[in-house]
Amino acid sequence: MVRMPAAAVDLPWCRDWFRRNRERSRAWFGLVRDEAYLARPISLRHPVVFYEGHLPAFNVNTVVKRGLGRPGVDAALEALFERGIDPEDGEDGPDAASWPARSEVVAFAAACDRLVEGAFADADLCRADDPVRRRGLALFTILEHEAMHHETLLYMFHRLPAAAKVPPRGYRPIVGGEPPAPRTVDIPAGRATLGAHRDEVAFGWDNEFSAHVVDVPAFAIDAYDVTNREFLTFVEGGGYEDPAHWTAENWAWRERLGLRHPSFWSRREGRWHWRGLFADVPLPPSWPVYVSHAEAEAYARWRGARLCTEAEYHRAAYGAPTGGERAFPWGSEPASARHGNFGLRHWDPLPVGSHPEGASAWGVHDLVGNGWEWTATVFAPFPGFAPTPSYPRYSADFFDGGHYVMKGASPATASELLRRSWRNWFRPRYPYPYATFRCVRS
Ligand code: AVJ
Ligand code: FE
Repeated sequence: MVRMPAAAVDLPWCRDWFRRNRERSRAWFGLVRDEAYLARPISLRHPVVFYEGHLPAFNVNTVVKRGLGRPGVDAALEALFERGIDPEDGEDGPDAASWPARSEVVAFAAACDRLVEGAFADADLCRADDPVRRRGLALFTILEHEAMHHETLLYMFHRLPAAAKVPPRGYRPIVGGEPPAPRTVDIPAGRATLGAHRDEVAFGWDNEFSAHVVDVPAFAIDAYDVTNREFLTFVEGGGYEDPAHWTAENWAWRERLGLRHPSFWSRREGRWHWRGLFADVPLPPSWPVYVSHAEAEAYARWRGARLCTEAEYHRAAYGAPTGGERAFPWGSEPASARHGNFGLRHWDPLPVGSHPEGASAWGVHDLVGNGWEWTATVFAPFPGFAPTPSYPRYSADFFDGGHYVMKGASPATASELLRRSWRNWFRPRYPYPYATFRCVRS
């Protein structure tokens, strides 16, 4: 059996990322006041305490126990914090477990961190003869897992009342002015590569494999995400009162919860506001609207359009009039602050079109950054799917026809996750993620 050269995985870089991850986790849990530690910002999910234990427990379960066969820190806590939940709206939320005190969770996390540091110091984390450690698989699994949970934490903390949070120093949203005039871009028929070849990426999740080419018929796509200004015309035009725009299931959901506008909005004294992470601001007209898939679909129908498919997203983002496909919408240059609102530099969206240097070859803006893009594609495995050995339940539990693919990135998505093949997914009536959309027509 061929042994991968150690140089194939940059272990110091991985250790550095691990430390940055842990530092950010500690800083972000520090945003939540003690009084809110047992709060469930999203009623169908676990309380804040679960997540502070989940990240270190996942690291130890995956790298130390499964990866190296070494003992963990505390089997009971590693089981308690093993995995989150994804109930359908209307189903029961989590049982009220008896959670350890915050100080106990923090001490457990520190002990977990020491075990992982020990593994970096003296273990072989890249072994070609072990499927869990091949090319550092378990290691990348924990690194990407923690980075993606930073986003989960933020959209969860978003739902806590402002009084439960300590705003970062100097925090101020960039509200912007008027949005650019909406326009559409014609994309001719062509081909798009979905997924990645196993050897083309240092790491990929199971749902990204393997690469395959699809034919995409011609379509026209919005150059910008749908803005709050545009969505407001739907809201004020009675979009939430007319079942004609909604699927039967989505309408029943809207009725049951009495929804009349996006959950990120509120209306006070006759004026619309954006419910920010740390404060409310008058609704910024030029920001992309953040909505559930259900609401995005209703808006698109109302406009006589539809959401893009995953393949159309790829074509608009990575295709080019001259043929060929790019690594990023802007080309092959590594992602930087010039290219989009991602990488946790901002706590909020920015006006659409704020990063012209990040536009795709067709001139479509913000395809990576400023909000995930909902697609019309149901989350399903690509041909050649096999569960990730270091975390076999990562995707497989969600291939139930009840989740939709999201592409791109939000302000809270780590730059390390901006792989073309990266796929996110959520239930259509899950309104919490930082997700927006644009319309297409055939
Ligand atoms: C890929 C973002 C849908 O949050 O449910 C975290 C990621 N999986 N821990 C989720 C995940 C296990 C997952 N998403
Ligand atoms: Fe998790």
